[in-house]
Amino acid sequence: MSITPRPPIPSFIPESAPFTVEQRTWLNGLFAGLFGLQESVTPLSNAEAAKLLGGLIDGAALPAPAEAEDDGADDGAPWHDPAMPMPDRMKLAEGRPLPRRLMAAMAQQDCSQCGYNCKDYADALFAKSEKRLNLCVPGGKETSRMLKQLYQELDAAPAAAPAAATPTVAEQPKPALAAPGRSRDNPVYATFLSRRRLNKPGSEKETWHIEIDLAGTDLDYVVGDSFGIFPANDPVLVSSVLAALDVPADFPIGDRTFREVLTDGVSLSPAPDMLFELISYLTGGERRQKAKRLAAGDDPDGDAAKLDVLAALHKFPGIRPDPEAFIEALDPLQPRVYSISSSLTSNPGRVSLTVDAVRYEIDKRTRLGVCSTFVGGRVAASDRIRVYVQKAQHFALPDDPSKPIIMIGPGTGIAPFRAFLHERQAIKAPGRNWLFFGHQRSDHDFFYEDELVAMRTAGFLTRLTLAWSRDSKEKIYVQHRMREVGRDLWSWINDGAHIYVCGDALRMAKDVETALTDIVAEHGRLPPADAAGFVAELKASDRYQADVY
Ligand SMILES: Cc1cc2nc3c(=O)[nH]c(=O)nc-3n(C[C@H](O)[C@H](O)[C@H](O)COP(=O)(O)OP(=O)(O)OC[C@H]3O[C@@H](n4cnc5c(N)ncnc54)[C@H](O)[C@@H]3O)c2cc1C
Ligand SMILES: NC(=O)c1ccc[n+]([C@@H]2O[C@H](COP(=O)([O-])OP(=O)(O)OC[C@H]3O[C@@H](n4cnc5c(N)ncnc54)[C@H](OP(=O)(O)O)[C@@H]3O)[C@@H](O)[C@H]2O)c1
Repeated sequence: MSITPRPPIPSFIPESAPFTVEQRTWLNGLFAGLFGLQESVTPLSNAEAAKLLGGLIDGAALPAPAEAEDDGADDGAPWHDPAMPMPDRMKLAEGRPLPRRLMAAMAQQDCSQCGYNCKDYADALFAKSEKRLNLCVPGGKETSRMLKQLYQELDAAPAAAPAAATPTVAEQPKPALAAPGRSRDNPVYATFLSRRRLNKPGSEKETWHIEIDLAGTDLDYVVGDSFGIFPANDPVLVSSVLAALDVPADFPIGDRTFREVLTDGVSLSPAPDMLFELISYLTGGERRQKAKRLAAGDDPDGDAAKLDVLAALHKFPGIRPDPEAFIEALDPLQPRVYSISSSLTSNPGRVSLTVDAVRYEIDKRTRLGVCSTFVGGRVAASDRIRVYVQKAQHFALPDDPSKPIIMIGPGTGIAPFRAFLHERQAIKAPGRNWLFFGHQRSDHDFFYEDELVAMRTAGFLTRLTLAWSRDSKEKIYVQHRMREVGRDLWSWINDGAHIYVCGDALRMAKDVETALTDIVAEHGRLPPADAAGFVAELKASDRYQADVY
C-alpha cells in the first residue's frame, strides 16, 4: 500500500536568506507553528522575514535577544548538531538564556552517558540540582571548560529559577535513586561471560562480540537500549603513574589503597586542568608558568592534546603531590555506554555488545580507550563488572511489527540492528527489513556474516546492502549505496518505513542524512528545502531515529 507522505513544511524563509538548510528548516517550522501549517504559502520577503525575526537578515548577524523570560525551550536549539564545532554552537546560542548556552556547550549527541540528554543536563546545572561539570564524555575538556566559564555567570547571577509555565526536568525535585541497574548512579554487578573477535586475521580493526550474564541482577531491556559499563584502568598504566609519583601502591586513601583508587576511581586519560593547577603550586619558574597556562587551556608547547595523566607527570618530572590532593585533582572515572546487540526475547538473561577496541600510539606509547579495552581485553570470564541499562529515548522498533524498517549501521553501528533483527525474527514480525552495513574490507570486517547471510537466504532480511570502504581504490560508504538504490528507498519510505542510523556521529550520520535528503528531493521531486523539511518531519514523527556517538 502506498501512503501519501505528509506535506513538507512550507517555505516562509526565502532561499536567498543567509541560513543553512537546517536553520531555514527550523525557521520554516517555527513560522509554520506560528501561522498554522498551510499547504500553499507565499514566501516572506527578506525584509518581512527580518522584521519577524526582529533583526537584520541580509548578512548581518541577528541581534542578540535580551535575556528572555522563558527558558527558550521552544527555540528549536539550532546548535543541536554533534558535527557543529563548539565556537559555532556558542555563536548560535549567543544572547539566549543561560540554560540554552549551557546546552550549546554539550556535545549534542544526546548520548545519555551523563545520565541526562543535553538539554536536561544543562537545565539541571542551571537549577544547581547537578553540580558535576565534567559528565559530558564526548564533549571532554572542551565542554567542561565552557561549562566552567558559564557556571561563573550562574554563580554571579542572583538566584532565579527559569519562569517556564511547566517545571523543567531540572526544577522538579530530584528523583529518588533509580532502581538498581537502571541508572549510572546505581549500577549493579553482572558476570562477564566471553568475548569473540568479529574481524578476521589481517583486519586493521579490533572489534569484539561481548556476552554478559544478567543472572541475579533483575535487569531487563528492550532492543534499542544501551548498556553502561564502569571500566577499570589498565594495571600497567596505573603502575607507571605510581612509579612517576614515587608513592607506594598501598598508600591509604580513606579505606582504600592508592592503587585501588587509581584503578577504578579516577580517569587517567586527558590530564584535567586541575592537575596542571596542582602542578603549578608544586613547581617554580618557567615550569610553573607552563603549568598555569596549561591549566588555563593554553598550549604553550603544542602538545596539550597528547597529555594524558602519565604524560603530564613526565612533562613535569619530580613533582611529588600529596596523594590525596593528586586524586582530588583528577576527574572521576566515568562509565561508557554501548548499544545492545542482542534481544532478550531470543537470548533470555543475557546481553551482548559489539565493541571496537580503541588503541592508538602517541610518542611511542600505546594509549588505550579505557572501557573498550577493558571489555575487549582485561576483563576475564566470570569476572563481576558494574553495569546498568540506559533506556533509549527515541530509538525503538515501530510499535506496529508490520511496518518496514531501514537500518543504516556501518562498523559497530550494526549493534542495535542485530538486536532489532533478532527481536523481529523472534516475534515473527511480518514487516520487511533492509540493512545497510559497511566496513573496511569484505574479507575481514563483515561482522555477523553467517547470521546475516542466513537471514537473507531465509528471506527474513529482505535486503542486505553492503559497502566496503577499502576493498577498492575508491571509498564506498553506506551513503553511496543508498544513493544507488534511492528509488527503492523512496518507495519503502512511501510504504511507511521507519529509518534508523547508528554509528559515527561526526561524519557518517551527517553524510547519511544528506544522502537521504537528496534521495527525497530526487525521487519525491521536491525542492531541496522541502526535502530537508520532509526529513525533519520524519524525525519529528520518530520515523527517522539515530543512535550516534
Ligand atoms: C549511545 C552510545 C552507544 C554506543 N555504542 C557503541 C557500540 O555499540 N560499540 C562501540 O564500540 N562503541 C559504542 N559507543 C562508544 C563508547 O561509549 C565509547 O565511547 C568507546 O568505546 C570509547 O570508549 P573508551 O573508554 O574505550 O575510550 P576513551 O578512554 O574514552 O578514549 C576515547 C578517546 O580517545 C581519543 N582517541 C581515540 N582514537 C584516537 C586516535 N587515533 N588518536 C588520538 N586520540 C584518539 C579520543 O579523544 C576519544 O574520544 C557508544 C556510545 C554511545 C554514546
Ligand atoms: N574520531 C575519529 O576520527 C574516528 C574515526 C573512526 C572511528 N571513530 C569512532 O570509533 C568508533 C568505532 O568505529 P567503528 O569501528 O564503528 O567504525 P568506523 O571506524 O566508524 O568505520 C566504519 C566504516 O565507516 C566508514 N566511514 C568512514 N567515514 C565515513 C563517512 N563519512 N560516512 C560513512 N562511512 C564512513 C569507514 O571507512 P574508512 O575508515 O575506510 O574511511 C568504515 O568502512 C566510533 O565511536 C567512531 O565514532 C572515530
